[in-house]
Amino acid sequence: MNHYEDPSRSASLSDDEESQRLIEKHDQPVKLHSRGSSIVTCKRVYMVLLHGIVLILVVTLCMGIDSKGPNPRPTKGASWSPVREHIEHELNAGHATDHHKYSQYSGWPSPKQDEAWDDLMRPVYFNATRDELEKAGESFENIAELEGGGYPASLGVYHELHCLRQLRFWLWKDRYYGDLTEAQDDYFHGHLDHCIETLRLTIMCNGNPAVYSFYWDDPAADHPATQSNSENVCAKWESIENWGYERRISTDPDIVRPSMDEMMQ
Ligand SMILES: *[C@@H]1O[C@H](CO)[C@@H](O)[C@H](O)[C@H]1NC(C)=O
Repeated sequence: MNHYEDPSRSASLSDDEESQRLIEKHDQPVKLHSRGSSIVTCKRVYMVLLHGIVLILVVTLCMGIDSKGPNPRPTKGASWSPVREHIEHELNAGHATDHHKYSQYSGWPSPKQDEAWDDLMRPVYFNATRDELEKAGESFENIAELEGGGYPASLGVYHELHCLRQLRFWLWKDRYYGDLTEAQDDYFHGHLDHCIETLRLTIMCNGNPAVYSFYWDDPAADHPATQSNSENVCAKWESIENWGYERRISTDPDIVRPSMDEMMQ
């Protein structure tokens, strides 16, 4: 039986409440002192140890939740990534609810818009070192290598942007693809379905908590329009892009093709 059992304490304390109790108890050293027995000394050592453990737990928790800036997303257990330490965060209230407002990436396609997408996608590949891929937990079985050394690699965010761009090409397929054969059409259906799946996983993983409401912008309309003033904590795109541009290689890199024999080994 624990000497510190408090009779008023309910049996269903959560871990947090438990920690608070321990801190409160330790904040009363005078009472413990006045008893002056060896049991009390043991109790004090025990309390100091417990206090230390609680402190370490609290600090670890805080570090995982908020290391620098507004980043409430815990990263504990997430795989290492070379870009992670470079990502800064910011509050962002962009929602694209105004259907008459376009960004450089949206609206009717134009050479200028194509150029913006080209600039966005330019750092899609980087040259990873073996050490980086090991730290990221990648498998080296039949891994693709660059001509001249290093490994072609990409980031999740670029895979997702690639998927978005493929969907955009499909939306304007008369412009980007012209007439497609049945085989090409089949290929695109397979690829774009995979793209939708990629984006679904990311969207659900991110779980955007922004609140949206609806308002009437036109009393004759069938439906109200969407609005949102929610601020979200977002990656500062510039911080990712700067890293990408520093590490980028060609968007069509030369990759070593192994012989059949090597693949079978
Ligand atoms: C990739 O990096 C390696 C060093 O890790 C270097 O030898 C190689 O030339 C680089 N390849 C490219 C395409 O930048």
